[in-house]
Amino acid sequence: MQPARSCLAIVLAAGEGTRMKSACPKVLHEVGGRSLLGHALSAVAEAGAEAAAVVIGPDRPEVAREAQRRFPAAELAIQQERRGTAHAVLAARESLRRGYDDVIVAFADTPLVRPQTFAALRAGLATGAAVVVLGFEAADPTGYGRLVEQDGELEEIVEHKDATEAQRAITLCNAGLMALSGEHALAILEAIGDDNAQREFYLTDAVAVARARGLRTKVLLAPESEVQGVNDRVQLAAVEAEFQKRRRLDIMTEGATLIAPETAFFSFDTQVGRDVLIEPNCVFGPGVSIADGAVIHAFSHLEGAQVGPGAMVGPFARLRPGAKLAEGAKAGNFVEIKAAEIGVGAKINHLTYIGDASIGAAANIGAGTITCNYDGFVKSRTTVGAGAFVGSNSSLVAPVTIGEGAYIGSGSVITADVQPHALAIGRGRQVEKEGWAKSFREAALARKAAKKAAE
Ligand code: UD1
Ligand code: MG
Repeated sequence: MQPARSCLAIVLAAGEGTRMKSACPKVLHEVGGRSLLGHALSAVAEAGAEAAAVVIGPDRPEVAREAQRRFPAAELAIQQERRGTAHAVLAARESLRRGYDDVIVAFADTPLVRPQTFAALRAGLATGAAVVVLGFEAADPTGYGRLVEQDGELEEIVEHKDATEAQRAITLCNAGLMALSGEHALAILEAIGDDNAQREFYLTDAVAVARARGLRTKVLLAPESEVQGVNDRVQLAAVEAEFQKRRRLDIMTEGATLIAPETAFFSFDTQVGRDVLIEPNCVFGPGVSIADGAVIHAFSHLEGAQVGPGAMVGPFARLRPGAKLAEGAKAGNFVEIKAAEIGVGAKINHLTYIGDASIGAAANIGAGTITCNYDGFVKSRTTVGAGAFVGSNSSLVAPVTIGEGAYIGSGSVITADVQPHALAIGRGRQVEKEGWAKSFREAALARKAAKKAAE
């Protein structure tokens, strides 16, 4: 076996992002529940980069934090002034100097590039090219760098602003990302000048520099949808749509049924097992896993939740972080569950809030039951034992424990622990007054008649 090639990823995240019109840096906007930067870092990591240098603008502590959260070994390089993409890459000079076999350059605002694509760029280096460029056929090439080929070889990349009329007619464009041989990367980058329309140091000039030195260059093609970038909210939505399309395909390919795939929204990390049925209009925020055979009925919203095998959720259910449904458990319509374990086969079928709780196996939680888990200051826990039956419209005032097999009378406000197998009723006792209604009506009618007679 060949020894693995070492790889440094340089991720450019120094964009201004003014067109986002946002208080949040552009690369921290999210697609599928993860920042744009997070997507880029995860793709390069999956493509085998063991080191990453993230190039950020000055005063961007939140971008730095996100970089280190998503790629703990990431180094940060500050680009003080935006002087072009090659200048940005050179901000990571220290990392480059350490020496790697492969260097890949990724843009933090281009989050859909697949790990396989970065891996293919690296494979191009392994066959002896010094620069491997990612190209695409642009529907509208305006604004992109054009790949100028001669005799089937990549000669140079010309930026739109520097291109001649003839070059502007080329539709084969530069996606921006590239791979450079670690052996030559620093020398190539340092030879790039700023003699162009924008007086910038263009990374794209790496091609012409490499050619002039007799080094080989190569183009790899990707679909345009994979290399679309984000500059404004309209493009953010387009990228989100493409991301969702991919996730739905993956999830269906892995054996789940989506009745109306275009209405199901997943996160980057949603795990869905086999024979899961997902009805229309469901949203899966980050941190959700759905085990085999579970059913998610229409209009359910889940985040940070685990749904066990064969469990049932919704319609119109909300599972919040820490909701864990064991095998065969049910959370029905208008049920909200947060930070609570629901035991095997337990049923919470209607109009209920269960928060900070543990519900035992096969327990039945009646319609309208509420765990009163918060007193305005602290959250307290509710424990319901296995097989317990909580009558409808009960309030369980936490902290409170209901023993195994106990019964709670409907409409109870339970403020004290209930022993296993006991019946607890916490409500006003029913009072019955015989014949009261009849005499009330008669008296009222008599008063009304007397009033009328007096008029
Ligand atoms: C770049 C490419 C162009 C390609 C296009 C694809 C160059 C010179 N041009 O052009 O060939 O078709 O991407 O979208 O590379 N950045 C910095 N610091 C800088 C400048 C840029 O960090 O000084 C970052 C940006 O934040 C962005 C990326 O580099 O993530 C690309 O920069 P951008 O200004 O968008 O380049 P384009 O003009 O689009
Ligand atoms: Mg751009």
